[in-house]
Amino acid sequence: MKRTVESGKTLLVDGPASVIVVSGDAEAFGFKVPHGHRIVIREGKRLPFVVEETATFDISLGENAEVDEVDGSTIPSSWVNAQEELLNIQKRPMVAMVLGAVDSGKTSFCTYLINKLLREKWKVAILDGDLGQSDIGPPCTIAYTFVMKPVTDLFNLKMKNAFFAGFTSPSVSISKVINGLVTLKNEVLEQNPDFLIVNTDGWVEGKEAVSYKVQLVEKVNPDVVFCIQQKDELAPILEGLERFRMLIVESPSAIRQRSREKRRSLRELGYVKHLKNAKVRSFPLSWIKVEENELLEAVENRRNFRQERKICELLGMKPLHLSESQNKIYIVIGKGKWLDWGSIQKVEELTKKKIIVVRKGEEQGSLLALYNGKRKFLGIGILREIDYRRKTMKIYTPVSDKVSTVSVGKVKLDKNLKEIPLPTEENVSEDFRAFKELF
Ligand SMILES: Nc1ncnc2c1ncn2[C@@H]1O[C@H](COP(=O)(O)OP(=O)(O)O)[C@@H](O)[C@H]1O
Ligand SMILES: [Mg+2]
Repeated sequence: MKRTVESGKTLLVDGPASVIVVSGDAEAFGFKVPHGHRIVIREGKRLPFVVEETATFDISLGENAEVDEVDGSTIPSSWVNAQEELLNIQKRPMVAMVLGAVDSGKTSFCTYLINKLLREKWKVAILDGDLGQSDIGPPCTIAYTFVMKPVTDLFNLKMKNAFFAGFTSPSVSISKVINGLVTLKNEVLEQNPDFLIVNTDGWVEGKEAVSYKVQLVEKVNPDVVFCIQQKDELAPILEGLERFRMLIVESPSAIRQRSREKRRSLRELGYVKHLKNAKVRSFPLSWIKVEENELLEAVENRRNFRQERKICELLGMKPLHLSESQNKIYIVIGKGKWLDWGSIQKVEELTKKKIIVVRKGEEQGSLLALYNGKRKFLGIGILREIDYRRKTMKIYTPVSDKVSTVSVGKVKLDKNLKEIPLPTEENVSEDFRAFKELF
């Protein structure tokens, strides 16, 4: 479909769609789109083409895609000012952090800044700290890359390195997220960028979120913080960050809010992308270091066979596997098997350790990350099986390099790469409950 839009207007395209600028002059998030260049807009994403000089577009629309035309530019004037101000600061490297609620325009603002900086020929890196809606790395990771060419969707960039958190919401472990961002920030700075743009997650409301965001900014220690807000959502965070150079920018009114389901399905596109061409690989547990899973970490520990015999006697059965850590004993039993509470208690009395009963197959579907010996992130995978007899783990992953560490996440995926909801926890605070709605 061909469509001509007059100068001074904006064409809004909601994906899935693809657009070619045939003639005229149009800009997408600061990127002057060359004629004939095809731009793909994913489902759940909206791309504004600000028309500077009457332009004709060739548009292909997918299912549920939409096109709209509005007067003026949907890029707020505060974005233009922010970018000018950023270019006026002489310090290099210059670290700029972007804060804002979910769907406030953080990713789009980063894209806009990057494109404007690239026009001035600066060396630009993006560090993406949004675990739940990651643009650069797989979901549940913090990742960075250097941007060489203008972009309309950061999702198309190839990550340089990543830090696997293993969950979609920062509240699961604030310190892990902060550590990931600081570690990667330092790694980027070693590579001499002129500008580093740091994006963050959208958890900004409530006491816990405010305290987390203040800590995050303090630890990353940027030269400037851009706060995207509609009204004054970020006021409590701003109060805690007075010593920083802060710039408030507007959240565009043309933003397309996404439902929690839409956000999840956008995230699932991320799993699909990063598990493309995956195969099942088998790893002997003695060859690799497993992190964040006590059972797997304990499999290779020394065993006390005399005690194990006694445990089997007390249980009245031989489990598939027994392993012992400093203060716990893991008992792995078959899928349909049960252990009675009384005998577990007896084993606890005998061993003075906490007994954890695991059913074979429970591990299935866990999202995990694979790293090499230099702690370079190689990719993600899904745990398919632990073979306790052979002491191997089977992982579905596109990674073919030599793996030295596997970090197991808290998210589980089914065979179709859809997230399996975690069992609901009790005693979660109000703040946290409201926040969980965001992911
Ligand atoms: N200035 C704008 N004009 C039109 N659409 C926009 C604009 N800024 C953002 N959007 C769209 O709104 C949606 C949400 O923006 P996004 O940058 O992804 O938010 P966040 O990263 O804060 O969740 C995206 O589909 C994006 O393309
Ligand atoms: Mg985003």
